[in-house]
Amino acid sequence: MDLYGRDLICTQDWSFEELMAALDLAAKMKRDRFNPRWTRILEHRTFIMFFYNPSVRTRLSFEAAMTELGGHAQFMTPSAGRFKTQKQAGETIEDAAKVMARYAAGIGIRILEDKVPYYGAGDEMLREYAYWADVPIFNMADDKFHPMQGLADVMGWAEWYGEGPGRPDYSALEGKKFVLTWASGALARSWCSVQEALLVASRFGMHVTLAYPEGYDLDPEVIAQVRQNCQERGTDFEVVHDPEAGYEGAHIVYARNWMSPNAYRDGVFHKQEEIEKALQYPEWILTAEKMARTDNAIFTHPMPVDRGHEVTDEVASGPRSAIYDIAENRLHVQKAVMALTMGNL
Ligand code: CP
Repeated sequence: MDLYGRDLICTQDWSFEELMAALDLAAKMKRDRFNPRWTRILEHRTFIMFFYNPSVRTRLSFEAAMTELGGHAQFMTPSAGRFKTQKQAGETIEDAAKVMARYAAGIGIRILEDKVPYYGAGDEMLREYAYWADVPIFNMADDKFHPMQGLADVMGWAEWYGEGPGRPDYSALEGKKFVLTWASGALARSWCSVQEALLVASRFGMHVTLAYPEGYDLDPEVIAQVRQNCQERGTDFEVVHDPEAGYEGAHIVYARNWMSPNAYRDGVFHKQEEIEKALQYPEWILTAEKMARTDNAIFTHPMPVDRGHEVTDEVASGPRSAIYDIAENRLHVQKAVMALTMGNL
């Protein structure tokens, strides 16, 4: 499998076999983390991390990944430069991408929420960087997709239904019921993590139930892709609008807040309005009572968790919570993707 030079902006851009190549390598790297086979793959190489928005897991796991592969990660924010925007003159994406590619073996970019003027603008920007840069561009979360999170999620689910940490069984996910539910919350989340999770769950052969209050539709093009993925795998896709519905028989429950489609208007992200609206739905919280109706489901969330709004502490810190394993997997999947795309492994 030759993945050298490939970008990763959405998992759907890669074939199932390509995703499995990265996931299989990630599991090997997790089982044998500091083996010399891995620790010099990116020796003397630099990875540029360009963050428009804050991050804990993504920044730390990419930095750690580069350290463990023998290279170095450089952190940059837009305030470091003079970049052209809709409102101000400055350096174009073509120039920025071509120059960064002269220094680095790969570039990661995060841009979402209040840093984009309309839904999809962040993903468009990533794809423009990918067009101009002749090194891999990685999506570190844009306004549509979060591919490294999706890979870490599915690896974690397959570990929980497989043989434990570093021993995922992806075939064990086939036919399992995945429930993704909107949740109340005070963070006005973008759609990237939940849309990526729907894409991977459907591609890995799970039945998908999507639950949300009326008015919180996700991107119709992404949902059409999820439906198509389910059709191709012969699984069910259903949408419900009741906070109590969908839990029966579930194996994996993902509860997370997301913004409504009205969040972007007039070139502005209406964050406070979204938060006030979401907090009017306190019944959309994942509780132990709801989890008790599942088939002993695991709880999954990309973090940071908005405890008390999205999910109770009892569930988030409970014995079936996979959140820390999945957060750890960010490191392993990113190491694997960088080794394959930047290191010609
Ligand atoms: N899950 C995730 O991307 O976390 P951060 O926002 O902290 O990077």
